[in-house]
Amino acid sequence: MAAVTLDILALDRRSGVPLQRQLYRALREAILHGRLRPGLRLPATRLLARDLRIARNTVVAVFEQLVAEGYLAARVGVGTVVATLRPEALLHAPPAPRRSAAGTPPALSRRGAALAAVRRGSPDATPKAPARAFQVGLPAVDQFPIELWARLLGRRMRTPTRSALGYDYAAGLPALCEAIAQYLGAARGVVCRPEQVIVVAGAQAGLDLACHLLLDPGDPAWIEEPGYLGARGALLAASATLVPVPVDDEGLDVAAGAHAAPTARVAYTSPSHQHPLGVTMSLARRLALLEWAAHTGAWVLEDDYDSEYRYGGRPLGAMQGIDATGRVIYVGTFSKTMFPALRVGYLVVPPPLVEPFSVAMRHTGHSAPVAVQAALADFIGEGHFAAHVRRMRVLYASRQMRLLRAARRHGLVDVRPAEAGMHLVAELPSDADDVAIAARAVAAGVVVRPISTQYLGRPSRRALLLGYAGVPEREIDRGVEVLARVLQYGSRRSTARGLRSKA
Ligand SMILES: Cc1ncc(COP(=O)(O)O)c(C=O)c1O
Repeated sequence: MAAVTLDILALDRRSGVPLQRQLYRALREAILHGRLRPGLRLPATRLLARDLRIARNTVVAVFEQLVAEGYLAARVGVGTVVATLRPEALLHAPPAPRRSAAGTPPALSRRGAALAAVRRGSPDATPKAPARAFQVGLPAVDQFPIELWARLLGRRMRTPTRSALGYDYAAGLPALCEAIAQYLGAARGVVCRPEQVIVVAGAQAGLDLACHLLLDPGDPAWIEEPGYLGARGALLAASATLVPVPVDDEGLDVAAGAHAAPTARVAYTSPSHQHPLGVTMSLARRLALLEWAAHTGAWVLEDDYDSEYRYGGRPLGAMQGIDATGRVIYVGTFSKTMFPALRVGYLVVPPPLVEPFSVAMRHTGHSAPVAVQAALADFIGEGHFAAHVRRMRVLYASRQMRLLRAARRHGLVDVRPAEAGMHLVAELPSDADDVAIAARAVAAGVVVRPISTQYLGRPSRRALLLGYAGVPEREIDRGVEVLARVLQYGSRRSTARGLRSKA
């Protein structure tokens, strides 16, 4: 019997893994895979230790652990035997594969499968390195005053209050809610009390929370067409029925939405700077949307994700500020003004939703770490936030100019200036395959997002989104050069006719 056991128990003295751990694993594996059958008596610890040339204490410790875990049983007068484990079939199941085998979809729910498919088809979905030209949505993270931030965060970590170490503040640290309410009132015309501010782990968490709390499975919800994939994901996660509503020069086409889904429960929109087209929703459309929402009892999800970066034109305040009937849920984020990995965003909810949203925050896991919230309140309160945003506004305006100049130099004619935001839209002819072009660009080292992946239905235009905010100037020049080459190849193959000028 000991010989059988010894065959199984090969210990490797050079592996660096402690012998005790090796012996434990080997015995457990042998039991789980049926090589040591239930009822089998193991050799005495002294004999096993001698045969394996290890200390007896080591064997005793391993036996004790396996007995405690139920793999072995100590029987008086018999010794240590392999325990009978139920259900047996489970024990002999092959180990779970790390990834599902090719072609076998994992067993997701229909909702899960829809959610997991949202980013499919976008060649920029998994960029390899940060700050590559022209990644969309990434601010200049290398310009962030990280040492100052580390100091503020360190201070809050070193001297936390008792509550800051417990379960309090799931819906937001009061000091931060206060700072956000003040900032939004002054900068965006948002009308709210600090209690209406719910701090979440990024705008995505806020959208997810709002969609889960406001929609029942199957409820129709408007989504801008083309629109933000994060919003699409949040609506799909709540099992909403997505209703694409076109965006034109005035923003979301409210009449088209009311025609397509008059009883939608939620309308998602990014009115101050539509993602991805960059349009600002007109006042007439805002009023029409609010009127429809008040009339039907729908909720408007107003995503104000990058309102801080406006370089010209007359900014319109947030729609929340002109909402007299309390239908707007305002969504904001620090991802663009600080850095995305901070994962802090916020909702401003109408008074009747404060209680349910705050309570639900305890069960969603969407809260932001309290020390980070405290440091952020300091960062805002001490004036660093406003200073950083001012500096970035100047930098991004100049980077946009740089991109426009480089585009002109290389004959990319259909890249137009924008009054706001962090990316430009490079229009392509309507028959161009923007996904294929983007894939070639990615292969050549430039990340661009094809606009057609932002459409739920049939894309009505083809374009590339070029993020510039987080891209150093020289990278912008180099990126445009590469892109021009990719497009030249494309136009030779007549996929991108018209983007490049004849010159
Ligand atoms: C339209 C829109 N909303 C919100 C966000 C920010 O999301 P988060 O705060 O989850 O980083 C982004 C970022 O790309 C965005 O493009």
